Amino acid sequence: MSCAVAVAGEVAPAQEADARAAALLQQMTQDEKVQLVHGHGWNSSPIGAIGFVKGVARLGIPDINYLDSTAGPHIKDKNATPLPSPIGIAASWNPALAFDVGRHIAIELRTLGFNAGLGGGINLTREPRNGRTFEYLGEDPLLAGKMLAARLKGNNTLPVLGVAKHFALNDQETNRFTANAIVDERVLREYYLLPFEIAVKEGQPTSVMCSYNAVNGEKSCENRHLVTDILKGEWAFPGYVQSDWALAVSDTERSANAGIDEEQPGSQNDDKPDAYGLATFFNQKLGRAVAAGRVPQSRLDDMVVRKLRALYRAGLMDAPQPAIGSIDVAAGDSMALRAAQESIVLLKNDNRGAPVLPLDRSRLKSIAVIGGHADVAVISGGGSGQVPPRGADPVTCRTPGANALTIPLCANWYASSPLAAIRAKLPAGKVTFSSGEDRQAAVDSAAGADVAIIFATQFVSEQMDLKTLALPSDVTDKANQAYDQVALIEAVAAKAKRVVVVLENGTAVTMPWAPKANAIVTAWYPGIKGGEAIADILFGDVNPSGRLPLSFPNDESELAQPTATRAGPMPMPGAKQPAKLIPYPHDEGLLVGYRRYDALKRKPLFAFGHGLSYTRFTYSGLKIAPQASGDVEVSFTLANTGSRAGAEVAQIYAALPTAVGEPKRLIGWEKVTLAPGERRRVSTTVSAARFGIWQGGWSVPAGSARVMVGGSSEGQGALSGKLDLTARRLPGGA
Ligand code: BGC
Repeated sequence: MSCAVAVAGEVAPAQEADARAAALLQQMTQDEKVQLVHGHGWNSSPIGAIGFVKGVARLGIPDINYLDSTAGPHIKDKNATPLPSPIGIAASWNPALAFDVGRHIAIELRTLGFNAGLGGGINLTREPRNGRTFEYLGEDPLLAGKMLAARLKGNNTLPVLGVAKHFALNDQETNRFTANAIVDERVLREYYLLPFEIAVKEGQPTSVMCSYNAVNGEKSCENRHLVTDILKGEWAFPGYVQSDWALAVSDTERSANAGIDEEQPGSQNDDKPDAYGLATFFNQKLGRAVAAGRVPQSRLDDMVVRKLRALYRAGLMDAPQPAIGSIDVAAGDSMALRAAQESIVLLKNDNRGAPVLPLDRSRLKSIAVIGGHADVAVISGGGSGQVPPRGADPVTCRTPGANALTIPLCANWYASSPLAAIRAKLPAGKVTFSSGEDRQAAVDSAAGADVAIIFATQFVSEQMDLKTLALPSDVTDKANQAYDQVALIEAVAAKAKRVVVVLENGTAVTMPWAPKANAIVTAWYPGIKGGEAIADILFGDVNPSGRLPLSFPNDESELAQPTATRAGPMPMPGAKQPAKLIPYPHDEGLLVGYRRYDALKRKPLFAFGHGLSYTRFTYSGLKIAPQASGDVEVSFTLANTGSRAGAEVAQIYAALPTAVGEPKRLIGWEKVTLAPGERRRVSTTVSAARFGIWQGGWSVPAGSARVMVGGSSEGQGALSGKLDLTARRLPGGA
């Protein structure tokens, strides 16, 4: 067969990859086939990957070394770049940035010898106390889906396998192995699966990772409806489905016949429990099940073809892994800085009418920097989504955590000092630092300064949920906090001339103290250049352009299921995994996040899509032009009426005809950079699918809808107009 060879950096033409995969399958023995569909156990990778599939050397099938890569390669001592966490990338609302981040991470993975990244977390924020919120892309299916698609496209420019995870409804860590999300089909399709549908179709991940939890009574990795009917059937996903790491699969036949294609981390001997006493299912057990006809041979062949197809499509069959190299630290730093600058959100900026930010170098003489270890570092989250710090930890954990099987509870800190960056901006000024542990000293320093900048940190991690979204204290986070952060803010605010609070956070924060702060900035987990990026925003060298990818509630009572989670770390259940599923009814339906606030006519603390700028934007001239195809052309004029260049995230929402009972939804956005005084006509095509609802199939309902355009999800937007929808079926899905 004559085959054009895929060049590294291009996805091989799909049909050719398929033909080559089918041909190669014919040359494989049964043992080789089985070898390709399971991991080889914890710590089996020769280069320290978290997952390892042994290739078949005689056929040129490479080993697969999977590395977690949520915000960069999760590997110690290799200088991998800790980028801002995905929740921050989502806050940029800039798919081009997500593309560059995906590409950058793939470059670092490949440089370090890894050919597969596990970075595509996309579970929607149903519950902001979920300890993994920082790894995901917020509460809106369109924003999350498009941002992951962009990241995957960036990834796919390199011969590196890319994933979308955790399929599906892995929306809390509490009881994550046994939680059973009960959800009706319409909510499943329109909300929880929609980001996956968009990312899978547009971003072409090579694999989709099925999750630990169950959905409607079936574990996700044994759920035929999710894996075979929807993902592989309706969405025609050509890649492979891999299990999450241990405890996601509980039975060979059930999972293989439901459609999953790879067990992780697997083992070399299914007949013995693995290193953690856990059972495995896709090695000898799968071989026997196929021999006995309990799993059809065609199913095993399909698993293998999907894997080979992914390897061909990614270019990995034709692009040999280069020798392990070293990370380009300068390139990593510049990616990290740009990403952090774009992800920071200015939530509040007011000093009795006169904005306190940006700080004015020409007038400012003294600054009191307080708390959050801002003298040495910025914080980050924990679990598989972390990127280990380069070099020694700049902050010592107060009570290093639990046993070896739990995710360590100590936060990561990256040696990027906001204090140093602030001092560099004001070399002639007096910039003091107090750690916050001595509250009185902090108050005194603030009282004598022109402005006090308080750094507040919130640690979250995989394998735990937060009990509360209040800023943690030495009581609620013993490992990482030495004092009560809220009491500190209140005490400082009572004495300072002006107070700026900078949050380093993995999820929403409640802020009963907000009225006392003149300005509030959320920097998320800003990565290795976080300190510098924060200072750039505070001094106006970068105009903030991030917007919230999730609602910040006033308090937890406003959440969809205010009592559903519990605090703290949850150890791995080990061999004594409780088999019983625990139901979590998602009976709030579609009323999650801004959809909920809008439907209940309540106001969050800070709305989804909210974010301030140092300039002003005005909207005018809305035109809504339905096309014959069902797509809708939405155009408007955006003007920068302030005195600085800046970027606005112009958001487009729809209210569907009232009869269909749908909450408001985001249907598109454009991030537009404008010079002072500049006006631009912005035009965007909203696909018909964005008006779709699920009623046993996707369709656009007939009737009178509204389109709203503006700078946040709140209210009617700056502009709003009527749109008459014509009923139509959407055979291509959403
Ligand atoms: C997580 C995955 C991760 C895997 C490998 C699991 O516990 O849920 O997101 O990729 O571990 O570290």
